[in-house]
Amino acid sequence: MPVITCIDDLKRLYRRRVPRMFFDYAESGSWTEQTFRENVTDFAEIRLRQKIAVDMTGRSTASEMIGQPVAMPVALAPVGLTGMQNADGEIKAARAAEAFGVPFTLSTMSICSIEDVAAHTSKPFWFQIYTLNDDAFNRAIIGRAKAAGCSALVITVDLQILGQRHKDLKNGLSAPPKFTLPTMLNLATKWAWGIEMLQTRRRFFGNIVGHVEGVSDPSSLSAWTAEKFDPALNWDKIRKLMDMWGGKVILKGILDVEDAEKAAAVGADAIVVSNHGGRQLDGALSSVRMLPAIAAAVGGRTEVWMDGGIRSGQDVLKALALGAKGVMIGRAFVYGLGAMGEAGVAKALQVIHKELDTSMALCGETKVTSLGRHNVLLPSDFLDRYS
Ligand SMILES: Cc1cc2nc3c(=O)[nH]c(=O)nc-3n(C[C@H](O)[C@H](O)[C@H](O)COP(=O)(O)O)c2cc1C
Repeated sequence: MPVITCIDDLKRLYRRRVPRMFFDYAESGSWTEQTFRENVTDFAEIRLRQKIAVDMTGRSTASEMIGQPVAMPVALAPVGLTGMQNADGEIKAARAAEAFGVPFTLSTMSICSIEDVAAHTSKPFWFQIYTLNDDAFNRAIIGRAKAAGCSALVITVDLQILGQRHKDLKNGLSAPPKFTLPTMLNLATKWAWGIEMLQTRRRFFGNIVGHVEGVSDPSSLSAWTAEKFDPALNWDKIRKLMDMWGGKVILKGILDVEDAEKAAAVGADAIVVSNHGGRQLDGALSSVRMLPAIAAAVGGRTEVWMDGGIRSGQDVLKALALGAKGVMIGRAFVYGLGAMGEAGVAKALQVIHKELDTSMALCGETKVTSLGRHNVLLPSDFLDRYS
């Protein structure tokens, strides 16, 4: 087993272990992938301000997200098909998050069902819902999330229509994989993944297959989803979903100050500044570039978080310094899961935590909650290069 010291090490191992179509599914953005790339490269434009001769003892990364105590303000983002990256992936990721003391979000498009994840964890997790145009389905799945004890609903608002990802089309992505010749040849080189996958019964979309009439296999499922994503979504419908839930709500996928104002006005407990990891509107600005303006506009009325491009604790520090109260990570934990299962997700969290703690200390800060604009240096035009 190679020595793992950073998220990139996990990614290398992940690439070796997981079938090509699932690696490509995670490691891609829409169309030219400009936004996907800039989510990462824009973090590199932000520099940290080193401070010396400050007492660094008694440090703490503990904070709160929507009133819930967290070991560090980093939540696992909802990621569809996580259970295809590693057998029973959602259960493993949720358990690793719980052990570490950070929130886990289960995607509607997960492989393990809400009930399965609840049965294998002991603390409440968050459930992510897409804004589907099927009230009966929305009501039923929200009821299931409540019955499972989920403590917040993450409503994803940036996927009314799907951004095109070339690789998924070329690979014929499906769960479970279709047995074409190229897929078979690739699977033959990923035998450890395959053996684990053969040992689990969780290989379909667990929240949907068996819960929706007429959906029993991958092809009926893709027809169902294409029909159900709601191109007519509006703020009234978002309000209706929030009322249906009646508990804490996080609106995820906001990248614009005016939209953030509206989200604060409908009473979101938190918003996630996000472009869906660069998988939707290619050409949109990176999340971290949009974060400061959104935090300045609505940070006093709702918690502002961000996701997109976080690959290290230094990135977390930069986001917090620019006004985020918390962040979500997607690919960083998926790399860990694909590389080493539950231990890999734990490793990803440990790596990020150590980097955050050490970098915070070298910035002269002892509390993650004290980070602010004074900890970073920005290029003079970082905030207004695009207008
Ligand atoms: C493979 C993959 C699947 C995703 N599936 C979902 C999903 O089902 N629901 C959702 O709200 N966001 C989904 N996202 C977006 C993530 O929640 C998150 O916004 C994004 O991964 C953050 O960027 P990062 O991966 O650079 O950390 C997905 C992202 C990836 C990479």
